[in-house]
Amino acid sequence: MEQANNKKVKLGFIGLGQRGAAFGMTDGSIGLMGNVLNNAKDAIITAICDRFPERLEAAAKRIMDNGDPKPLMTTDYKELMNSGVDAIIISTSWDMHVKVALEGMEAGVPVAMEVGGTHNIDECWKLVDCYERTGTPIFFMENCCYNKDEALVTSLARNGVLGEIAFCQGYYCHDLREEIAGGIDTHHYRLAEYTNYNCENYPTHELGPIAKLLHITSGNRFTKLVSMASKSIGLKHYIANNPKYKDRLGDREFKQGDVVTTMIECENGETIFLKLDTTLPRLYERGLTASGTKGFYNQTTQSVIIDDGKLDHEHTAYKDMFFTAKDYDKYLPDDWRNITPEQIKSGHGGMDFIMLKHFIHCIKYKKPMPIDVYDAVTWMSVTALSEQSIANGCVPVECPDFTRGKYKTRKTVDTMDYPIVKD
Ligand SMILES: NC(=O)c1ccc[n+]([C@@H]2O[C@H](COP(=O)([O-])OP(=O)(O)OC[C@H]3O[C@@H](n4cnc5c(N)ncnc54)[C@H](O)[C@@H]3O)[C@@H](O)[C@H]2O)c1
Repeated sequence: MEQANNKKVKLGFIGLGQRGAAFGMTDGSIGLMGNVLNNAKDAIITAICDRFPERLEAAAKRIMDNGDPKPLMTTDYKELMNSGVDAIIISTSWDMHVKVALEGMEAGVPVAMEVGGTHNIDECWKLVDCYERTGTPIFFMENCCYNKDEALVTSLARNGVLGEIAFCQGYYCHDLREEIAGGIDTHHYRLAEYTNYNCENYPTHELGPIAKLLHITSGNRFTKLVSMASKSIGLKHYIANNPKYKDRLGDREFKQGDVVTTMIECENGETIFLKLDTTLPRLYERGLTASGTKGFYNQTTQSVIIDDGKLDHEHTAYKDMFFTAKDYDKYLPDDWRNITPEQIKSGHGGMDFIMLKHFIHCIKYKKPMPIDVYDAVTWMSVTALSEQSIANGCVPVECPDFTRGKYKTRKTVDTMDYPIVKD
């Protein structure tokens, strides 16, 4: 039993851009900070840090407008770490994630680190070694693990509804041309990333939920991957046709291929297909798919197909066989059954609220992190490994076992309490 604990968790925010503080956002986003201010009755933001003073001012105003005391404002994240915060939230550019996380862990301050890949396998090992030496908790903020669709398919899998899973697929398809080119004005890090690297640069939104579903780092592991990149023409075309950027970025060459596809093999025999598609015109899509011996789930078509022995294998009645997700509500965890309209509005359809609630609860009650250091580095390392594969002619690359064998006996910590459904 947990002892009631009314103390608010004191949070320090490092990185007050689009994600951290919705800086410059005009689409109604409230960022992680807005989520904490609106919803997290158990937490208070006591310190904030960014390189840019105007971002600090804007974030401090939001905190004080919320009725909270003026936070410590600093451009030096070490000062924030030493200010008595109970945990830090890192929402900086990708290149700073591991550096800042390591310093936080060394200082004994629990860390929540935003998503993104890493170009450097050594960084992954440093994170593991630091965690094992200091014991400071680290949570990887993969919010898609808390989304309703991902929760549904994970629960179906946990309940055996899909049978034994052989294959999963996921995409990060998001037209980011304006965000990337706009970096020339907003300082957004993606502009440099797309200029300098060619890789699966953002694997975790789709891979995180798949890895959890397949028990990666606890009973299963990635063994090898192979990646292929298309030519790079999307950004060039966008910039050449956009007067805002044509003169300033027209000469820029981008290393990043427009579409990067990756296949991953798992020790237990499953395969995974990933697609990154961010610099051509298209609709947002994560396309999560799970194929098992008894059934199939696909996020894009919002469908669950169960083989009840009557499936029309010629697909002539294809549409009639689709069951909508609402037929499967009983498989949803309580987090999704009990969510309020306000929480749904509070960022990415509610998943940000649920994720932060779980993180704050783990800090408050000293519980193990549901997405821990081994999950984080296993997923992030796909960026570096895909880069190696592409650079060497799409060769297969071995995936390191960052658990050093512990995955064989580690138990899966699920992100949510999936119900056991008895029909
Ligand atoms: N989970 C999600 O749904 C989601 C959505 C968007 C972005 N993100 C992630 O959030 C992170 C930030 O993305 P963004 O779009 O907000 O980027 P951004 O460029 O808008 O913001 C990053 C901020 O970090 C600050 N920063 C960088 N280095 C710093 C340092 N050393 N000290 C202090 N501040 C520093 C920058 O000044 C900037 O304000 C990325 O990891 C991104 O992948 C996650």
